[in-house]
Amino acid sequence: MTTVSPARRHSLILWLVLFITSACAQAQSGKGEFQPQVGQEGKDVIWVPTPQSLVDRMLDMGKVTSRDYVIDLGSGDGRTVITAAKRGARALGIEYNPDMVELSRRNAAKEGVSDRANFVKADLFESDFSQATVITMFLLPDINLKLRPKLLNLKPGTRVVSNSFTMGDWAEDDSVSVKDGCMSYCTAYLWIVPAKVDGAWQLADGTLNLKQTYQVISGSLRRGNNTIQIANGKLHGDQIMFNAGGALYTGRVDGNGMEGSVSTGGNWKATRAAK
Ligand SMILES: C[S@@+](CC[C@H](N)C(=O)[O-])C[C@H]1O[C@@H](n2cnc3c(N)ncnc32)[C@H](O)[C@@H]1O
Repeated sequence: MTTVSPARRHSLILWLVLFITSACAQAQSGKGEFQPQVGQEGKDVIWVPTPQSLVDRMLDMGKVTSRDYVIDLGSGDGRTVITAAKRGARALGIEYNPDMVELSRRNAAKEGVSDRANFVKADLFESDFSQATVITMFLLPDINLKLRPKLLNLKPGTRVVSNSFTMGDWAEDDSVSVKDGCMSYCTAYLWIVPAKVDGAWQLADGTLNLKQTYQVISGSLRRGNNTIQIANGKLHGDQIMFNAGGALYTGRVDGNGMEGSVSTGGNWKATRAAK
């Protein structure tokens, strides 16, 4: 009979324990599946997941419904896209790391939303997200600034929601902080893409000159020799409102036209004046 030395027996037992532990870990995580690490390198931003409580609030802020097409720029493990899909929206995650894309697809399948939650392996700077009605992101301040011109060119009314990072001098329309289940990165910001109204507009009986800074408008309304300054001018997507001469003008902008009603009675209509 072969005898085994105590030292050899000890190393065999150790090997067996390590083998069983690692087999159990693999069985728990799924065989050979990629395990993401918080803080792992990303192309332009490391991966830090948005806490689920804030994901929920971000989608509330964006008023996400089944009519929406939500795109998450840098979608990590897919949690925002999957949560949006669970609300009935179509959703797309753009993510540079192929392992995270595969992980997201597996997560979407586990949650039963693979039909509405899609993921592409792509660079967000080279991606077309013009069809989105809601954009979500958790990137960095300088990346938000780089994306800002493209975001401002989205369809008026598109909602942009960012975890933690702002948009330079484009002030947010709303912000929300969560406390439950959130230790860090617990504030989200919302912007509503405003219609473009800067310039001169022709009314039936006068001219409206507008100066636009994102969603804030100033300017004047001229009728004959009478010019009055407008006040409290605001855009909320394609909705416009301002005070002029004691009346509140509200209306809707549609490309080169806008029309609505005046608080003192009647309607107003304007078309973009030729330059
Ligand atoms: C801070 S994490 C946010 C993940 C997810 N949006 C969330 O809120 O949980 C940023 C993600 O962006 C990805 N990323 C970084 N640079 C990117 C780029 N240029 N194109 C696409 N994804 C990028 C990273 O791999 C990472 O998963």
